[in-house]
Order: sequence, then structure tokens, then C-alpha cells
Amino acid sequence: MQTILITGANRGIGLELTRQYMGQGTAFIFAACRAPENAESLQALASAHPARLAILQLDITDAASIEAARQAVAAKTESLDLLINNAGIAGNQSARRLGQLTAAEVSRVIDTNAVSPLLLTQAFRPLLQASAAARVVMISSGNGSLTNARGNSYAYRMSKAAMNMAARVLALDAAMAGITTVTVNPGWVKTDMGGPDAALEPAESASALLALFARLSAADNGKFFQYDGSSLPW
Ligand SMILES: NC(=O)c1ccc[n+]([C@@H]2O[C@H](COP(=O)([O-])OP(=O)(O)OC[C@H]3O[C@@H](n4cnc5c(N)ncnc54)[C@H](OP(=O)(O)O)[C@@H]3O)[C@@H](O)[C@H]2O)c1
Repeated sequence: MQTILITGANRGIGLELTRQYMGQGTAFIFAACRAPENAESLQALASAHPARLAILQLDITDAASIEAARQAVAAKTESLDLLINNAGIAGNQSARRLGQLTAAEVSRVIDTNAVSPLLLTQAFRPLLQASAAARVVMISSGNGSLTNARGNSYAYRMSKAAMNMAARVLALDAAMAGITTVTVNPGWVKTDMGGPDAALEPAESASALLALFARLSAADNGKFFQYDGSSLPW
């Protein structure tokens, strides 16, 4: 049974990925979230699948929390097959509009969406390298594509472009030998972040993502995928 860690698993895309992995029955999921005590949907899933789901406390911006999560995972498994860096934020108006931007809010978005997934990957690298076919997935966004740049949402677009570059460098880094790193846009999804007018239900995005993750191989290292498996421009 493969072992998978998903960040931001308490709601939105992360929760739906977790739910569908439980339905498939082929993976043990470490479902990470900031506040397990408030993660009611996740708790219900864990109660239904106690042998295949462990809820993990993890604030990805907190180094001590990353280390505690790493220790908790290492206590349960010798290797991690898939790390899904899904947790992310859009930031408030002080991260979005010229005239309202603040250093604190722009930095918070970049720290959460780009710096933290990189540091999390660094922390879990030994467990990933102990897997025969490890993969790291950066859940990015079309908003991180320089080719597709549009107006506003400065910090979010900058953060996802930086996340994309982190993934490219990880894919080339000799220290990551044997680990396939890819960047994926989940599509425009009806979540708290995507809003009610989004094109996709979380279930549609998640089922396409699970299929994509299942067929990832070393030949995909360093690629930027649309959720349906087509390629996206950097
Ligand atoms: N929805 C879309 O249309 C869309 C499009 C392109 C890309 N994406 C990307 O897809 C990913 C998931 O988005 P979503 O739509 O599911 O968003 P969402 O519904 O807003 O959920 C975001 C998740 O990230 C978690 N999170 C935020 N900051 C965190 C931190 N410091 N530590 C740990 N967890 C943290 C949240 O936890 P809390 O509940 O504790 O806040 C929540 O579980 C994000 O990376 C997003 O950028 C989404």
C-alpha cells in the first residue's frame, strides 16, 4: 500500500483528494491540517477508515510543526511514496491590488505558497528517498504561469511562479535523485478559494488528479501539468 502525505487536507481540494483515496483503498494517507480539532469532515473520514488514514497536525509555515509532523510520519512508516503540497492561500486585498499592497501580506502569501512547500519537501526528502518510486506534487496554478500573466493578484501569481521554479530546481537537484517532482494546476475548482462560480466540482478535479498522480513516472520529472494531464506553459 502506498503512503501519501497531503497538506491542507481538511477542506477544498485536499479534503476531496483524501476522500477519493479512501474510496480507492490503495493508499495510507497522512492527512495534514492546521487544526485537527476543527477538521470535522476529515475526522469523519478517519473514523470510517482508521487503518488507512492518520490525521496530522501541520502548519506548513511553522518549522517546529514541520519537524513534529516529520517525526510523526517517520514513527509510522519507513518511506513516503507521494508528497502532495496542496495547502495554499490567496491572501487578502493587501496582497492583490496595486495601491493596497503591504510587505507583510505579500510576504505571507509567498511564504505559505512557495517557501513552505519547499521546506516541507526538504524535511521529508529522506522518507521520500526511502521509497522505490517517490513523487512530489506541487499544487500550483495557472496563475503561476508567466506566459498567462494577467492583472492583479500580485502575491498569489508571484508565489505560484516561485513555487513552479522551486519544483523545477528540485527536479534537477542531484540531492533529489530518484524523486520525481511535478507541478500541477488543479483547474478552477469550487472551493473556498475558487468560489461558487468555478468551472469544476472538487470531485471532478480530484478524480482527474488521482489518475494523473497514478501514472506519473520518472519521465515526467520537472513538468507542469494541467489537472487532465495536458501540459501547461511556464
Ligand atoms: N480552487 C481553485 O480554483 C484553485 C485553482 C488553482 C490552484 N489552486 C490551489 O489548490 C490548492 C488548494 O486550494 P483549495 O481551492 O482547496 O483552497 P481552500 O479551500 O482555500 O483550502 C486551502 C487549504 O490550505 C490550508 N492552508 C492554508 N494555509 C496553511 C498553512 N499555513 N498550513 C497548513 N495548511 C494551510 C487550509 O487550511 P485551513 O482550513 O487551516 O485554513 C486549507 O486546508 C492551493 O494551493 C491553491 O492555490 C486552487
